[in-house]
Amino acid sequence: MTNLILGIETSCDETAAAVISGGHTILSNVVWSQVAIHHPYGGVVPELASRKHMEKIVPVVEEALAVAGADSNGIDGVAVTCGPGLVGALLVGLSFAKAFAYARGLPLTGVNHLHGHIAAVYLQPDPPPFPFVALLASGGHTNIYYVAGPMDFEHMGQTRDDAAGEAFDKVAKILGLGYPGGAVIDQLSQQGDPERIRFPRAFLDKAGFDFSFSGIKTAVVRYVQSEKEGTGNIPDIAAGFQEAVVDVLVQKGISAAKARSCQHLALVGGVASNRRLRERIREAAQEAGIAVHIPIPELCTDNAAMIAAIGYHQLSRGEESFIDLDVYSKTMHSGRLGVVKL
Ligand code: KG4
Ligand code: ZN
Repeated sequence: MTNLILGIETSCDETAAAVISGGHTILSNVVWSQVAIHHPYGGVVPELASRKHMEKIVPVVEEALAVAGADSNGIDGVAVTCGPGLVGALLVGLSFAKAFAYARGLPLTGVNHLHGHIAAVYLQPDPPPFPFVALLASGGHTNIYYVAGPMDFEHMGQTRDDAAGEAFDKVAKILGLGYPGGAVIDQLSQQGDPERIRFPRAFLDKAGFDFSFSGIKTAVVRYVQSEKEGTGNIPDIAAGFQEAVVDVLVQKGISAAKARSCQHLALVGGVASNRRLRERIREAAQEAGIAVHIPIPELCTDNAAMIAAIGYHQLSRGEESFIDLDVYSKTMHSGRLGVVKL
């Protein structure tokens, strides 16, 4: 019986816990954001992130259980993010999850954070039927998958350099808008003209599904250095940059769905909370006769409900982890400018 799943997520700078029922109903979804802690450093400081997770993990889980009205003995299984992410941060969530599961004799399953982002659409009132294509755009990754079943992810393409969210964060830094940059650029762009400054779109080879976002960032740096215009121009730069990233994501996402004859496209990850991207991909999908599925913004950015959602399927299929379960950093955040090395 794997009805009530406790999900735990500590891969970066959010301490998160959630309880979901039956693989699709969210009973609680608690996220404690560390943004204010890392903001003065202009990026996530791994050591500080781990320490804050240590402090917050117990109260966050307690709150998730209380909001769900679940006794800790009423939980049927535990799902925890094992990677990719910051190793020290992941270890806090994993150690807690192991102790929680071991003490109660519960099944434990280790979850890939990226699969979790995709599983956010399983929590939607109207989830996409299989197969569908998923475009994942976050701070550490920009990937396209063909999703044949709840746990069947075929990788179709990825960024060759910066992730889309990373480009947002770096451009925000260049424009002096602080960290993290995505939401600020989203906001500021509403006052800007997206057509006035045209930044390059790197579509790479038309047939493939790889991305490149480092060129757009460099173009913004060059523009800022050459123009030396006043701050009044910043909304136009933000809107022009955002439009370029959105153009590429929309075109690649739609053409990936077409290439695999999929009538359903999911847009997930932190960047999927971007208003312009949500609007433009909906328009383009409608034109192409494709149904687009985008989680509510709270389920696009890091959370534990999505971890519990994929964990539910893993546990239902008997994919239990052992007590020697370990974490992995993989590509996530390595070499990412958003992470500060002290
Ligand atoms: O998925 P996420 O919460 O964490 C990772 O797994 O990386 O994504 C965080 C990324 C950050 O780069 C952040 O700037 C970006 O998502 N982001 C946005 C918006 N909200 C968050 N990017 C564009 N527009 C937004 N509204
Ligand atoms: Zn994430």
